[in-house]
Amino acid sequence: MKVTPETIVLLNFGRTDIQKIAREVRDNNFYTMVMPYSTPAERIMAEKPSGLIICYEKQPLDDVHKFDKLGLPTTIVSGACNVQALLDFCKKDCGCHGLWKLENFVDEAVADIKAQVGDGRVVLGLSGGVDSSVVAVLVHKAIGDRLTCVFVNHGLLRKNEAEQVQEVFQKHYKMNLRYIDATDRFLDKLAGVDDPEKKRKIIGKEFIDVFAEAAREIDAPFLGQGTIYPDILESIPLDGNPAGVIKSHHNVGGLPKDLKFKLVEPLERLFKDEVRKVGELLGMPREMLYRHPFPGPSLGVRNVGPISRETLAMLREADAIVTEELRKAGWYDKTWQTFAIYVPVRSTGIKDGHRSYDHVIAIRSINSVDAVTAQIVHLPWELLETMSRRIATEVNGVNRVVYDITNKPPATIEWE
Ligand code: XMP
Repeated sequence: MKVTPETIVLLNFGRTDIQKIAREVRDNNFYTMVMPYSTPAERIMAEKPSGLIICYEKQPLDDVHKFDKLGLPTTIVSGACNVQALLDFCKKDCGCHGLWKLENFVDEAVADIKAQVGDGRVVLGLSGGVDSSVVAVLVHKAIGDRLTCVFVNHGLLRKNEAEQVQEVFQKHYKMNLRYIDATDRFLDKLAGVDDPEKKRKIIGKEFIDVFAEAAREIDAPFLGQGTIYPDILESIPLDGNPAGVIKSHHNVGGLPKDLKFKLVEPLERLFKDEVRKVGELLGMPREMLYRHPFPGPSLGVRNVGPISRETLAMLREADAIVTEELRKAGWYDKTWQTFAIYVPVRSTGIKDGHRSYDHVIAIRSINSVDAVTAQIVHLPWELLETMSRRIATEVNGVNRVVYDITNKPPATIEWE
């Protein structure tokens, strides 16, 4: 999707903070695209760039002069990045006007979707996450009733999540929403499975099967997807061979071959915080746009060990209490992820004057920049105590709450 006539291409010769630089330049209204140093010249020129920024940390991974022949204004960023200098380059050397604005993006994206889809129909898998939700609202703005969203309830959702999705998309936005309650199907397949990777595979495969069945019925030629720019950038190997460079990312997630969709991916050039801003411009609820990251397999990987309706119910209630207290205390926006985990251990306690032998819930709260590493958050003891007291008294079957104080590494953020 071409969103602006003035593009600055960042050619990455081995910088790990390349997305951050691209973001900063964009914040100053100059539209940037990141390409690996192995990108063929024709591919770069296809974007009609106004200038090139060659980026590396200490040593470039290749000859930085190989693009001189393109005759474009070029500058090099090595070591510390002086953005101000980059902005001067964009303005003075490249003659860019700094016109890139997300406000314009919405109108352009709507026009592009209309042009791409014509009078066709689009099917979209809605997860309730930020990206698919923003795509849904954007595509709906463009083609209205010709969009059908499919929401699969796999029984591993958080408390009230299915109701909220229906409330926002069906009642508020008045979208065609096909809500599929596949709880029994998923939980039957997961019964007795305790290996985390097996769980993930079962959830992933079942999800595709349920979605594919719905998509076949809807019979739309287009599939809307919440692909965002980092998905694409991260699917390009730094030392990538040119064949894989142009666009190796196709996040159709293993759909059956007979479903030959054309993809509608209006966010494919946006970074995550830009997607959130687009959501705000579209008037979407802040709570939906600034949610903590949530894994695809949902509560499935926070219910350690075999999943049953009983253990899931405990986890779901505990998770709701953690989130509610976190918000009340003003800590939700100060942490990257804070959640409850069901631990398959039983311990002795006293409830209502009687000995109990009940289950354990763990609480985990971390901060992170990119989820590659994470640091535990020192939540106030009073807050933790409130969470613990409420969980141990309000959640049937739980009599003990523990706090996970392990950084990543060595632990991962999720327990499974
Ligand atoms: P870990 O547990 O690997 O998690 O430290 C890093 C980040 O990724 C999220 N996560 C997932 N997201 N599908 C997802 O979409 C998954 O299977 C999955 N596993 C982990 C996790 O919540 C954290 O933000």
